[in-house]
Amino acid sequence: MWIRTFLFATLAAATNGQAIDQVVIASSNSHLRDSDVYKVQHELKKAEIFPTVIDKFLPSFLLTAEWPSGKRADLGNTVKVEDAQDEPTITVSRDPSASSSAGSESANVTYTITITDPDAPSRDNPEWSEFCHFIATGVAISSSTASDAVKLSGLRDVMPYKPPGPPPKTGKHRYVFLLFAPANGTTDPLHLTKPEDRKHWGTGEERHGVRDWARDNGLEPVAANFIYAQNEEQ
Ligand SMILES: *[C@@H]1O[C@H](CO)[C@@H](O)[C@H](O)[C@H]1NC(C)=O
Ligand SMILES: *[C@@H]1O[C@H](CO)[C@@H](O)[C@H](O)[C@H]1NC(C)=O
Repeated sequence: MWIRTFLFATLAAATNGQAIDQVVIASSNSHLRDSDVYKVQHELKKAEIFPTVIDKFLPSFLLTAEWPSGKRADLGNTVKVEDAQDEPTITVSRDPSASSSAGSESANVTYTITITDPDAPSRDNPEWSEFCHFIATGVAISSSTASDAVKLSGLRDVMPYKPPGPPPKTGKHRYVFLLFAPANGTTDPLHLTKPEDRKHWGTGEERHGVRDWARDNGLEPVAANFIYAQNEEQ
């Protein structure tokens, strides 16, 4: 079990010093700005992640992932396999343009981060798709001094991070990051199933994966991002 922390900030408590610090951290890690949930939606549709991987949804949060190499997921940029070997840090922030200003409803909710490859072994021939690269959960804990700023802490692996490993001559693969919340809003601990296999997320069915797994575990998507990666030999 790996204990990690990822920052979970909201702009709601702008009058609080600590909240502002956390917002600064979140925005310095992110190119995302106002109304960018719509940009996220647009890019997911353009890349056919909607509806191939997940049904269309409007994100409640902005999500960025940064690998220790310094490379970061930025809605369809290309990251070299060698730069994505170690587990990325996930940063989540509330969209400043989102109508709900209350951050407190996220307190104590267990969030789940996943990474899936719908293009295994290739986008043209996705017979191993989807391939599960990562599932981890963390609880949002209210900061004691800023009720609207929360962090996800105690991140726990359900499926450990497996870096992208696209085979030679299989073109660009999409690696899709999705953040989920419990659909019923429960703050109870979640008992998520671990897929029996990374291939097909254990469903045994081609093109099945994170959507089925999330549905079976009562989760709904709240944020997303993605990169492309390919083998150097094409
Ligand atoms: C979150 O959990 C802490 C510790 O269990 C508790 O004190 C707090 O009231 C909870 N917050 C909410 C919003 O449920
Ligand atoms: C909420 O969903 C979780 C996960 O599906 C389930 O375990 C739990 O019983 C549900 N809680 C309520 C109050 O419906």
